Amino acid sequence: MRTQVAIIGSGPSGLLLGQLLTEAGIDNIILDRVRKDHILGRVRAGVLEEGTVRLLEKAQSATRLHAEGLPHDGFSLAFDGRDHRIDLAGLTGGKRVMVYGQTEVTRDLMARRESGNCLTIYEAANVRPRDFEAAPYVTYEKDGVTHRIDCDFVVGCDGFHGASRKSVPTKAIRCFEKIYPFGWLGLLADVAPVHHELIYANHRRGFALCSMRSMTRSRYYVQCSLDDKVENWSDDRFWEELRRRLPAHHAEVLLTAPSFEKSIAPLRSFVAEPMRFGHLFLVGDAAHIVPPTGAKGLNLAASDVHYLFLGLAEHYQDRSSAALDAYSPNALARVWKAVRFSWWMTTMLHRFPDTSDFEQKIHEAELDYLTHSRAASTALAENYVGLPF
Ligand code: FAD
Ligand code: DHB
Repeated sequence: MRTQVAIIGSGPSGLLLGQLLTEAGIDNIILDRVRKDHILGRVRAGVLEEGTVRLLEKAQSATRLHAEGLPHDGFSLAFDGRDHRIDLAGLTGGKRVMVYGQTEVTRDLMARRESGNCLTIYEAANVRPRDFEAAPYVTYEKDGVTHRIDCDFVVGCDGFHGASRKSVPTKAIRCFEKIYPFGWLGLLADVAPVHHELIYANHRRGFALCSMRSMTRSRYYVQCSLDDKVENWSDDRFWEELRRRLPAHHAEVLLTAPSFEKSIAPLRSFVAEPMRFGHLFLVGDAAHIVPPTGAKGLNLAASDVHYLFLGLAEHYQDRSSAALDAYSPNALARVWKAVRFSWWMTTMLHRFPDTSDFEQKIHEAELDYLTHSRAASTALAENYVGLPF
């Protein structure tokens, strides 16, 4: 088999890149090691930047997003028993974010891909990028048979644990990593959200986040310890802990319902440099991970896709390699700013096991400054709605 671009990974980055390429007449095949329903069963991101929405529009995959997504003009930072609203639109000249689940983004992109009869190979085992410094191809196994796809470029959109980054010789890549000493326990329930905007809560018992998927579906998170298990958390225990971390006026009106999803995610900052190795490109979580606090992971994957799509389109349409050569430096410049922002939000809002009284006072002073200084609030808002690309 032959294609122009072989994409490893059918998550949001692989699907978005595939759709932009298809709309531009560039042939591509997507491979994923799991089944479609497995990918659609993952509950992850919920907040989209305007730049991400624009890319989904360009990929002709934003009709339902505009019909069902919830535009948000602000969010609340809760501490000291009170809400402090960050007026995103007021502080950024009218920018806002869109609350719309990653699962739905993925579903919309898959539907669009299927309507165009583009090839996606699910349950492809042992996918490997090969000879990517010279004449690239990908091998994989399906139903016990080994297959080969020859291509011009291989794009690794296969997430943090994927095969693409691992296929790069260790001397060619440099990795930067920080592991945080806690995780997030997330819960999904069909119940009205406690508040019409998101609440990021800093509390001595630990961080909590109140988010949503719609006005009838809530997504809540509480900071938990790294060795915690979902089985330790009955719904009742979760609701009780969430209430304790929220200001009383929210806790009193929090509605509960049986959960239908509960999972624990570890928190990590990670960047691999560079993001290009000959004809192999890394995109999204395959190249970098941020802790979820700043809602940046999916949005960073989208901005990588933007830079790489520009490069590939220019390569095929204008026979120029300038934008492809700029992919890694341009993507990394934006990645590191989001890594910084996500690290800062995480540090400021969570309770670390070894937080001294001094550091706790510093966190409180920072939150107080942030919510009382227009300059500081503006810096937060500018990063939260997404830096330009
Ligand atoms: P993935 O979504 O990981 O997709 C990779 C795909 O590759 C998968 O389908 C996988 O099956 C496939 N794959 C893996 N290995 C192989 C292999 N060897 N061969 C073939 N295929 C393979 N981000 C935000 O922007 N906003 C948020 O609000 C937000 N909240 C989050 C909340 C939580 C709890 C978590 C865990 C994450 C959150 N994120 C958020 C991050 C976001 O979910 C990720 O950054 C995003 O999924 C990255 O997309 P991706 O396509 O690069 O990788
Ligand atoms: C969600 C996740 C986040 O990490 C975040 O910062 C905001 C919202 C969510 O899943 O809805």
